[in-house]
Amino acid sequence: METGLSMWTVVVAAGSGTRFGTAKQYAALAGHRVVDRSVSTAALVSDGVVVVVPPLDVGAESARWGAAEVVAGGPSRAASVRNGLAAVPGDAAIICVHDAARPLADPDIYRRVVHEVRSGAAGAVPVVPVTDTIRRVDGGVVDRSTLRAVQTPQAFRAEVLQAAYADGADATDDAGLVEAAGHAVVAVEGHRRNIKITHPDDLAAAEVWLAT
Ligand code: CTP
Ligand code: MG
Repeated sequence: METGLSMWTVVVAAGSGTRFGTAKQYAALAGHRVVDRSVSTAALVSDGVVVVVPPLDVGAESARWGAAEVVAGGPSRAASVRNGLAAVPGDAAIICVHDAARPLADPDIYRRVVHEVRSGAAGAVPVVPVTDTIRRVDGGVVDRSTLRAVQTPQAFRAEVLQAAYADGADATDDAGLVEAAGHAVVAVEGHRRNIKITHPDDLAAAEVWLAT
């Protein structure tokens, strides 16, 4: 990572994997657990990493991650992010938030979002074009040329993100919360291979991406 302002990453891995069927963050992907891949990449590019895991797993995961802070998550993703942010040191200038469920995020995506924040943006998110035709449930096709699918890692000025979460709001998307607080968030190029493991067949797709 570029030198200068310190950058920490919060990896949220405290979900229950309802759609996947089990705690997908612990599923094996080409020999390494999904969460291990996400944390390893975060550690490569960050000055420090906070891993947020289900409360019962804090002991076991702390033992695995000597170099990372491990804290307990909450009942929603937003609650888990908030717990992670509480463990980020006050002198961190930039904070990335990453879903453990995106184990194929590579250092380049981190560099792109962090570069925007170092260049003055309040926040930056990786996006990819929407390839499916999108239809409203009440009828009518949406013009997909105006739409982008949002990925993680997302990067923010630390004080902006901490303030957005301090208000106690609940959001599925960190950038949405920061925008609601009145800050502009810029989009950078994400990557098609940076898929989110949601259903079991996504794990098979990730194995294919890893092999290509
Ligand atoms: N997450 C979290 N704490 C929660 C819920 C989600 O840390 N209470 C994390 C997940 O572990 C995941 C990321 O947020 O890395 C994105 O959430 P999602 O893909 O929805 O994962 P799950 O909530 O585990 O899956 P599901 O919604 O199918 O239960
Ligand atoms: Mg979920």
